[in-house]
Formats: sequence, structure tokens, C-alpha cells
Amino acid sequence: MLTPKPIVDKLNEQIANEFHAAHNYMAMACRFDALGLKVLSEWFFRQGEEERDHGKRILRYLLDVGADVHLNAISEPTGNLSDPVSIVQSALNQEEQVTKQIHDLVAMAEEHKDFATRSFLAWFVDEQVEEVATMTELLQMLKLAGDHHLLQVEARVARMMETPQAKP
Ligand code: FEO
Repeated sequence: MLTPKPIVDKLNEQIANEFHAAHNYMAMACRFDALGLKVLSEWFFRQGEEERDHGKRILRYLLDVGADVHLNAISEPTGNLSDPVSIVQSALNQEEQVTKQIHDLVAMAEEHKDFATRSFLAWFVDEQVEEVATMTELLQMLKLAGDHHLLQVEARVARMMETPQAKP
């Protein structure tokens, strides 16, 4: 199977984007730990692991279609880590950005009539809907809780983490 070069290049870029998202989530997890919010910290570590899995999923696809994998440099974590609401707002911004990246990839695959890649990306399209919804929900929860009820948010996230689909 021959995957068009522009798509291979873009998928390689997306591997780095997913790994950078993982990097950001790790930084967010560390910041939550420093703030004493251990459950949110653990939840963000898990998000980081998920992003690494997303990157690996793309990497394996490139290997499956016989394309070259190129691992780009990962830049330092970005995002406002000053307080819980800012952290989750940064996480939501990131998920919206990744959603756009995935949609651009889908549009490119369609343009090149690369139906294999189009089909492969369907999982990511669905995953992004889920991730944006989850982060939006967590942000709303934190805003409602304010500074004085953060431990209630922790308790709710802890309950959700007990289920296989870890949503807040
Ligand atoms: Fe893999 Fe949350 O983007």
C-alpha cells in the first residue's frame, strides 16, 4: 500500500503532537501534585499515558503501511499552570487544538483519496469528541467548586477513576 508522502509527513507530525500533549499532561499532573490535589494529579498522569498511546497508535499505523517513521523533537511543556482552573483550561485548549489537527488530517486523506488513512483516523475523530467533552465537564466542575470545594472535585474524580472509562 502506498500512502501519499504529504500524509506520511503529516502523520509523523501528529505523532510529535500527541507526544507533546503527553508532555503537557505530565507537567499538569506534577503541578496538581504540588498543589496537593493528588487525585487530579493521578488523573492527568493517566491522560498523559493515553496521549503516548495515541502517538504509538499512529506510529504503528505507519509501520503497518510500510512508511517511514520519523520522530520529531518534543518541545518543553506549554500552558498556564498557575491554578486548577487555568490548568484545565489549558488542557481543554490543547484538546481543541488536537481536534483541529485530526480534522485537517482527515481532510487531507480525503483530498488524496487515501481511504485507508481516512478509516484509520475515524477512531481519533471519535476520541477527540470524548476528550473535549470530558475536559469541558472537568472545567465546569472546577469553576463551580471555586477555591473552597476542590476536595469535592477530587472525590468525584476519584469515583470516576474507579470505572474503566475514567471520566471526571
Ligand atoms: Fe490524543 Fe487528547 O489528543
